[in-house]
Amino acid sequence: MMLPHLNRAWRVLREEGLRIFWLKLLATPGCYRRMFVLERSLAEPVEAIPSPLPLTIGWLGPADLDDYVALRPSPQKDSIQRRLERGDRCLLARHHGRLVGAVWASVVPPRLSYLNQDLPLAGGEVYLYDAFITPESRGQSVAPLLGAGLMRHYRAAGCRRAVRATLVWNEPALRAHAKSGFHPCAVIGRVKIGPWQRNFIQPMGREAATPS
Ligand SMILES: CC(C)(COP(=O)(O)OP(=O)(O)OC[C@H]1O[C@@H](n2cnc3c(N)ncnc32)[C@H](O)[C@@H]1OP(=O)(O)O)[C@@H](O)C(=O)NCCC(=O)NCCS
Repeated sequence: MMLPHLNRAWRVLREEGLRIFWLKLLATPGCYRRMFVLERSLAEPVEAIPSPLPLTIGWLGPADLDDYVALRPSPQKDSIQRRLERGDRCLLARHHGRLVGAVWASVVPPRLSYLNQDLPLAGGEVYLYDAFITPESRGQSVAPLLGAGLMRHYRAAGCRRAVRATLVWNEPALRAHAKSGFHPCAVIGRVKIGPWQRNFIQPMGREAATPS
């Protein structure tokens, strides 16, 4: 199965050199993927973030499941149930009763399905994920407000660092997360050729990926 990939890679390497080999490899769809790992310390208290929208904030419970699935058809109810069973929490924002946003948090090391690998998570760390705000409510700091609410909760429960993983090209998400104090601290990624996959985590400097 892997032989045609290897033969082609070997031919490019032999005939076109190492530089072209890497450029062609990285241009292969799905072959090279990466995300920013963002972090923020919870050593100091987390400040509340205001939104111009009047919002009601609350935890996702059984009575919210139908609204949540309407907001976000994927994941399905059974996978939401699995998240809740392993202890993950989801903070919801409602505007005049209508669900307009949700952000999840977990203390269990997450599987990054985009990279097909786990993100390491130490004790005392909380992972924020699956932020979603309805398109008409975006740009009003709803996601940063929910993120700050989650971090205050997990800080009170003893967590001292919050992390998240974001696609490197997701500028709105990077800007939103920066508002709640996150900065990129590493690039996590993979190189995949056929069934072969090599994972990497590369620490990075603070200024390297700050959105302009
Ligand atoms: C990423 C996301 C959660 C941000 O939520 P948000 O509540 O809109 O966050 P903010 O209000 O802080 O806005 C963040 C950035 O979105 C952009 N933005 C502003 N208005 C917008 C609009 N109407 N529509 C889309 N993006 C907008 C701006 O770049 C803004 O940054 P700025 O305020 O510094 O200019 C939201 O855009 C979303 O749900 N996107 C789809 C799902 C997603 O990508 N999730 C992130 C997974 S890591």
